[in-house]
Amino acid sequence: MSKSEIGLIGLGTMGAMLSLNIAEKGFAISVFNRTTSRTKEFFDDAGDLAQRITPCDTLEDLVASIAEPRAIILMVPAGDAVDQQIAALRPLLGKDDLIIDAGNANFRNTETRAAQAEADGVPFLGIGVSGGEEGARHGPSIMGGGRKEAWDQVGHILTAIAADYDGTACATWMGQGGSGHFVKAVHNGIEYADMQMIAEVYGIMRDGQGATAATCAQAFETWNKGPLQSYLVEISGKVSAATDEESGNAVLDIILDRAGQKGTGRWTVIEAQHLGAPIPVIEAAVAARNLSAIKSERERGEATFGAAPVVLADDALSSDDLEQALIAGKIMCYAQGFHLLNAAGTEFNWDLPMPEIARVWREGCIIRSTMLNDMADALTAAPQDNLMFAPFFSKMIEDSMPALRKVVATAITHGLQVPALSAGLAYYDAMRTGRSTANMIQAQRDFFGAHSFERTDKEGAHHGPWGS
Ligand code: 6PG
Repeated sequence: MSKSEIGLIGLGTMGAMLSLNIAEKGFAISVFNRTTSRTKEFFDDAGDLAQRITPCDTLEDLVASIAEPRAIILMVPAGDAVDQQIAALRPLLGKDDLIIDAGNANFRNTETRAAQAEADGVPFLGIGVSGGEEGARHGPSIMGGGRKEAWDQVGHILTAIAADYDGTACATWMGQGGSGHFVKAVHNGIEYADMQMIAEVYGIMRDGQGATAATCAQAFETWNKGPLQSYLVEISGKVSAATDEESGNAVLDIILDRAGQKGTGRWTVIEAQHLGAPIPVIEAAVAARNLSAIKSERERGEATFGAAPVVLADDALSSDDLEQALIAGKIMCYAQGFHLLNAAGTEFNWDLPMPEIARVWREGCIIRSTMLNDMADALTAAPQDNLMFAPFFSKMIEDSMPALRKVVATAITHGLQVPALSAGLAYYDAMRTGRSTANMIQAQRDFFGAHSFERTDKEGAHHGPWGS
């Protein structure tokens, strides 16, 4: 029997879909799952693709069925399960056999695993895979990290299964160690922010304008035809339009307002803090999810303080205002995300391919959008520059920022929450303020801690005349 070109461990939703995708693209694949019944069920459901799939009941069988040098993808839950799987698998493998962690790993764990693999002289890749179930099945966006030789060993498979944007595969090697998983974390931070800003605008329509879910659906559908064209705006229209069969109500209206999170957005914020990179829109989005989780306290707050007087005058905000505000907020968010990637690239010596990051996000992943193509162009011209200063986006900011200011001001005046959009506006105002108020901070620091300050009129470290 001829051997498989690749193996995969972990037939949960993502692993199963990725395996079918690999088989569909013409590669023979061996699969293994901890529970054998799942492997059998997966194989039985694989239809025509089963001819390229070898189901294995043991790790030994899996290893024996793959051609050398082997490549085995792990699609198991991030965290300890990955280390346990590596520990069980590595002794069965040869020195040139490659393990690929394709889960949503914290990049710091990937760094540790990559360092261990280096020490052991064996290859290891950590790849970020985005696109959910549908993406995994038909073409995800893939962000690879690890040794270039290891990427090259499987690059032909990863690019074949990835999403395609105008003939370009959305799969790229980002750099060494945990860089692929870092880029994926930033993707997810941006995902949180995109989703939150959409939710804020939805809140203005629902609570401020009394719009039904169906009306919100129309707005999203319209915006999805303009500069905001994106997967997240598209699905926001779809979820707003859906009806609950049981109650006959809009599905959106019966979904509890408590959002879950697996942690990748939080990691982005934590890493940004470590790096001193300002990403306030993403921070606000993560905080908003945390706030959503404490529903009973919010209900207590409403009973104590009363709900905000939210009703807006009919002509207070137009659909165009909301669309433009989302455009401005989105640019601020991505400017921050790419700034964070730049900061991380410098700190960890990754030499991240900035335009390539925008390119692999154009298709397949959750944050895919038309605007990412323009970002790829801007980053090609000036890879390290803040996106705000790319002429295309400077112009867009000039055009859309008045609407963001109007939307935020109106929302805040009426007690509507717009934390991520506000953070975008505040970032813009900070970024156009050559002379900030940090002179006051420096004076205070020097006063209570003799931390010294720089002067505007001469070099050196100085102290104020505060006395002892
Ligand atoms: C993707 C997504 C995915 C993520 C989910 C849920 O790129 O396909 O980012 O990897 O796991 O979106 O994330 P949260 O549970 O943190 O919202």
